[in-house]
Order: sequence, then structure tokens, then C-alpha cells
Amino acid sequence: MTTAVVGSGAAGLYASLIAAERGAEVVLISKASLSDSNTSCAQGGISAVLHPERAAAGDTVAAHRGDTMRAGAGLNAPEAVDLLCSAAADDIDQLRRFGVGFDGSTFGQGQFYALGLEAAHSAPRILHAGGDATGASLVAALTAAVRASDAVTVFEHTRLNGIRCTDGAVSGVTVERDGAVQTIAAGAVVLATGGAGQLFEHTTNPAVATADGLAAAWRAGAAVSDLEFFQFHPTWLDVPGGFMISEAVRGEGAVLRDGDGHRFMADIHPDAELAPRDVVARGIARRLQALGPDGEQPAVFLDATGIAARHGSGFLARRFPTLDRRTREHGFDWDTQWLPVKPAAHYWMGGITTDLWGRTSVPGLYAAGEAACTGVHGANRLASNSLLEALVFARRTVEHITSGGPGPWPEFDAEPLRLPAEADGEPFTRVELQRLMSANAALTRDDGSLAVAAKQLAQWHRSPAGPQDREDANLLLAARLLVAAARQRADSVGAHYRSDYPKPGRVRHLTFAAR
Ligand code: SIN
Repeated sequence: MTTAVVGSGAAGLYASLIAAERGAEVVLISKASLSDSNTSCAQGGISAVLHPERAAAGDTVAAHRGDTMRAGAGLNAPEAVDLLCSAAADDIDQLRRFGVGFDGSTFGQGQFYALGLEAAHSAPRILHAGGDATGASLVAALTAAVRASDAVTVFEHTRLNGIRCTDGAVSGVTVERDGAVQTIAAGAVVLATGGAGQLFEHTTNPAVATADGLAAAWRAGAAVSDLEFFQFHPTWLDVPGGFMISEAVRGEGAVLRDGDGHRFMADIHPDAELAPRDVVARGIARRLQALGPDGEQPAVFLDATGIAARHGSGFLARRFPTLDRRTREHGFDWDTQWLPVKPAAHYWMGGITTDLWGRTSVPGLYAAGEAACTGVHGANRLASNSLLEALVFARRTVEHITSGGPGPWPEFDAEPLRLPAEADGEPFTRVELQRLMSANAALTRDDGSLAVAAKQLAQWHRSPAGPQDREDANLLLAARLLVAAARQRADSVGAHYRSDYPKPGRVRHLTFAAR
């Protein structure tokens, strides 16, 4: 029976390749081209504690586990974190079989990978490729391997319309291709559709990140979890056509300053710029707010000039070749100039609820990568754990599909949630949705702002007539779910910050399923 994999980021490509190796017949569906994904945009890298002879001195799987739990504010699923951190070295080795390479170290002897440091990691353990082009390099190699595989049929420019179920179990997907709707029969469907950065005005995500998998899973009756936790990346270059400036730049020593040159993160957290991502993003947002609209926006800057001074001019260009080119294209010489930055929507910790084998609450339906919520990231993802999660849990998903895993199909405790009917309401534009979510449900929320968002979202609808309308309908559904979760969590933890309830509450997870 066919396995349908929807989405062509790290999780989708790796799942397809491993499934093909294990004898499955795979159909890989990508709504744009194979290389259009969040993975392609990943700069920093993949976190992994390698086998002892290759890991940084003193670094351990236990340390990686501890860092992941601390960044996630303790809301992580401990078994998922154990699996993630302990499988890392082996999955990195597997990648080499598919032609993936990483930058090597120029230090020491032998064949070592260069290991970068990123925020909230207690040791350098970030593998990177092409300097700051890790995702693009990974995608290029995995895509070439997929195209070379006889067992993987690739459908590009093919949109997911829905999940088909027969007698309560998945029997395939409906897709739209060349303007025609068609059904692909499949005994297992893996949703690896990525995230939903397009919910917000400023995002590090590409245009394809529109919650398609989450929306399809919800409509098919799947449970969803932790949707109130949406991570904002602290340093997005704040110019028209801006883009993410990798956390690895702060790992190399760049600092954040306000317009007066004050290094304000040192006042907020002992780890300053290398504090967990939610802390740094909120620190910047508060600083921008405190400085107010003085007509001289933006007023927070990333200062990488110390790196150039320390390592010599030319270091930034060698270590971060893509960022060097792109910042210069925007008129900045970051060897000598500060870069204006602000936070931008980056990664959804929540998603389609899965167990440790990628199984959702619908038999035959699996999810992996950002679309899934394994619970591994808790309330805030540790930098560079996303590609690792995509690999480890995509592989486990495929192992379950091809070999069968333990026990009966899982059931999850989910609270029934009734949302407004999708067909009712006023039409809206995506820009209006993004403005509403950015103003009311982003880095800081409160009861009033969430009520405004919920009321407006309930009044809108988008009938999925064309491809863009379908994406907008998916985003609207995702926005309603996120806001419903954020309203229910009257406390602040990790990426979910309620100014009316600034303290953490008891440890709990919000899981919903359609009523
Ligand atoms: C970055 O390079 O800063 C992004 C890496 C990540 O989100 O894990």
C-alpha cells in the first residue's frame, strides 16, 4: 500500500527516503517545488551531540537534554526529549548516506565537524553547512536523493485539499493539481507540511508556511496540542524585504544594543543575548515599546562589529556567506555597522498531536516536523532543535509505518472545541488576518487583546474557491485555534506571555479536538 508524504522540508524528504529504503511505495506531495520549504531557509544548523570522539569536549547527551528542557520551560515531553537527544548522532550519520555534508573544523586533527554555539546551548553542538546555508544544503542533497529514487513518485505544485478516511481510518488524500482535483489512495499519510509563519505580518517563514497540514488534520478529526506556543525569532533584519539573521551570529559574539548603544539584554538575563529565544525576543520587543514611536524607528540593533574586530575583517563573510551577501545588498556593512532588528514569527511549537511514533489520533494519519506536536519543544524550542526533531521523528514515523510499532493505535485526551462554521461570515484578506494576529496574539497577549482577535476571527470566513483562498481558509482556522488556546492558558510560560497573568501556572497541556 502506498505511503503519501505531504510536504518537502527535512521531515518530508527524509521520511520519503527512509520509507523507500524500507521497501515502501512513496508518493511525495509538495505544494510548490521540492525546495520550497522552511527547511531551505534554515541558517544556523542542526543541534547534535555527536559520538564522543567528534563532540565538543565535555558535551553530553544529558547536557543537550537539560538545555532542551530548560528552554522549553519544563513543559517538554521527557521521553520525546530523550529520544531526540540520544538519536541525534545516528541520524546525522544516516544523512551522510544521502549525500549531506557539514562544514568541517579547521582545528585539531582528523575529520571533525565545525560546531557552532547558539542561544541557551551549554556547549557548541550546532552542525552547519555552507556557513549559514545549512537548510539549503540539506534540501539540495535530500532532494537529489529523492529524485534519484525509483520508489518515490514526486508530485510538485500539488496542493493538499483534504484527508480521506474510510471506516474511521485514513484511505488517502485529495489534492489539486493542474486545476483538477484528484484522489491518491494511501494506507498511511504523513503530514510534514511545516508551520504557519504566514499568520503574522513579519515572519522568517517562506510563503508556503500556511498551516495546511494542521487545518486538514483538524478537519479530519485529529487532536491538536500546545497551539498557544508560537516562537518569535529575535533578530529579523528590519528593512523592507527583511530576513532572519541567524542566532549563530550571536553565538559568535554579536550583541544587541538600543539606539544609545546600551546593551540592554545584560540587564534582563544572566546569559544576555544567549538567553532562551523567547526571553531575547520579548526583551527586544519591550525595548522597542519603551523607546516608543519617535519617528526614528527602528531602535534596536544587532552589533556584529566586535566579531570582525576580534577575528579580522573577512571572518563574517567566510562564516556567514549568505548573510554577508544579503546584508550588503541591503546597504549594510556589518563589519562596521549595526543592523536594525526586531522579532518575527518563526516556529510553532504546537501542532497536530502525535505520540513518539508520529501517530495522530486518526488511525493511519501521521505527522512529523513542525506540523506535529510531539511535545519535544515544550513551551519554547531550543535553537537548532527543529531540523533534528524533523529527522528523528520522521524516521520513527516511517519505522512505524513500515514495520508496525508497539501497542494499539493511541488515543489522546482532548478537550472538545467548537469553532465557528468555516462557511459562515465575512470575507477577509490575508493582510487583515496578519495585522489582527500581530496586534493581538503575538509576543504579548492579554484577555482583552485575545477577545478582540477571537471576535473578529469568528466574523470572517474564506470559502476555499482557489489555491490562495484555500491557504487563507487554513490560516483562518489555525488563527482561531491558536487564539482559543491562548485564551485558555491564563498564565505565562515560554513563548506564551500574558501581560495580565505574567507568572507561570501549573504544568499542563492544552489538547483540543473538533466537537
Ligand atoms: C537561526 O539560525 O537562528 C535559526 C535556527 C533555528 O530556528 O533553530
